[in-house]
Amino acid sequence: MITVKRSVLRHPAVLAGGGAAVAALLAANTVAFLRGIDAPWLLGTVILVDMLVVSLSVAATLWAVAVWGGQSDVSEARLAAIVESAMDPIITVDAQQTIVLFNRAAELAFRCSREQAIGVPLERFIPQRFRAAHRGHLEGFDRTGETSRRMGDSTTLWALRADGEEFPIEASISQAGEPSSRHFTVILRDTTPRRQHEQMLLRQQRELRELSARVLEAREDEKTRIARELHDELGQLLTALKMDLAWLRERLPAADGELAARAATMGALLDRTVASTRRISADLRPLMLDDLGLADAATWLVNDFANRSGIACEIEVAGDGAFAGVDGHVATAIYRAVQESLTNIAKHARASHAWVALNAADGQVYFEVEDDGRGIAAGDADKQRALGLKGMRERVAYLGGTLEVTRAPRGGTRVSARVPARSGGAA
Ligand SMILES: Nc1ncnc2c1ncn2[C@@H]1O[C@H](COP(=O)(O)OP(=O)(O)O)[C@@H](O)[C@H]1O
Ligand SMILES: [Mg+2]
Repeated sequence: MITVKRSVLRHPAVLAGGGAAVAALLAANTVAFLRGIDAPWLLGTVILVDMLVVSLSVAATLWAVAVWGGQSDVSEARLAAIVESAMDPIITVDAQQTIVLFNRAAELAFRCSREQAIGVPLERFIPQRFRAAHRGHLEGFDRTGETSRRMGDSTTLWALRADGEEFPIEASISQAGEPSSRHFTVILRDTTPRRQHEQMLLRQQRELRELSARVLEAREDEKTRIARELHDELGQLLTALKMDLAWLRERLPAADGELAARAATMGALLDRTVASTRRISADLRPLMLDDLGLADAATWLVNDFANRSGIACEIEVAGDGAFAGVDGHVATAIYRAVQESLTNIAKHARASHAWVALNAADGQVYFEVEDDGRGIAAGDADKQRALGLKGMRERVAYLGGTLEVTRAPRGGTRVSARVPARSGGAA
């Protein structure tokens, strides 16, 4: 078969030649019409040429129809191949929601051969409880006249395999054709692997959180034990030593000034040792937290911080008994968060004032630590080797609470958190 490129037919020379030929034929026909009676040979020749041209035109038209029809067959086949090789299941239904197209991926996902799927209502592949809603959605989509949309918006959609197993999907739908012959095409994706992956990540995250909480708890227990021993054991021994020294000093010969001076130095050294022991013990873990509760321990912490850092601090604590129902490990977590926030103020804020508020209501404990310093910059909390804020957030999240670090209205930094007072562990 002769093939002619369509571009050749649009070449100016070819067009001009064609136009000239048509004009010549028209002129010949006119002359034959006017003079045909006198020159029968002219009439005959023109009739013959006309018949030839008409036959050629008919043949060319038939040829064009055959070629273009073939081309549309080719593009349909190409489309079918694309649909067939798509990784995602593709299903087309007609206006009655009967399946008319079911690609290879759909066969795999729904565990159903094409022969069994075509001609069957789409509902066959939708769990029973969603069928009515689905029908409503499809009719609604039909009425909107939109060409395509994502199905299910934010909710998870479910599909039904031929063997009765349900699986989560994401899908988009498109429509084409006149209302009477409308076709809907659904392209979907089995999200089971992704959901399994997400669940695995969530489980791992929970396990890691639990692990870090256990590690912190163990560390806290150890600190408490050492603090207790320093405070009780060493504290008592030092007190006994002080009493003995006082007893000795009373009995020293008054005449020996050197002995008295040495005893006085010893007394001063003992006082410093007692103070150091108390400080080290309290830094490890304020036993007040266990003995007197969160409010007193936090007040002591803030005052001690103000004395040591020279930053003017104000603390506002809810009245007695407000923290009575707060779990021990919740109180510890809040105490440690306030402590870390204050340390951060001393280390990073260049502040002159700090405010701490501690409150409990409706089974929740709230705290806020604010400063008037330079303010935390975006991304500071995510610094690689900075673990203070991350640890705080992690610990609060483990207890089922939330923690926010923002810029304070005064320009500095504000750390605020809410933690359930009674928390059995991971939320
Ligand atoms: N009160 C604050 N004012 C200004 N910057 C702060 C404040 N608190 C924290 N930052 C910034 O956030 C970073 C992370 O803090 P943190 O997680 O406690 O780690 P670290 O104190 O070990 O650096 C700090 O390095 C600091 O740049
Ligand atoms: Mg820190």
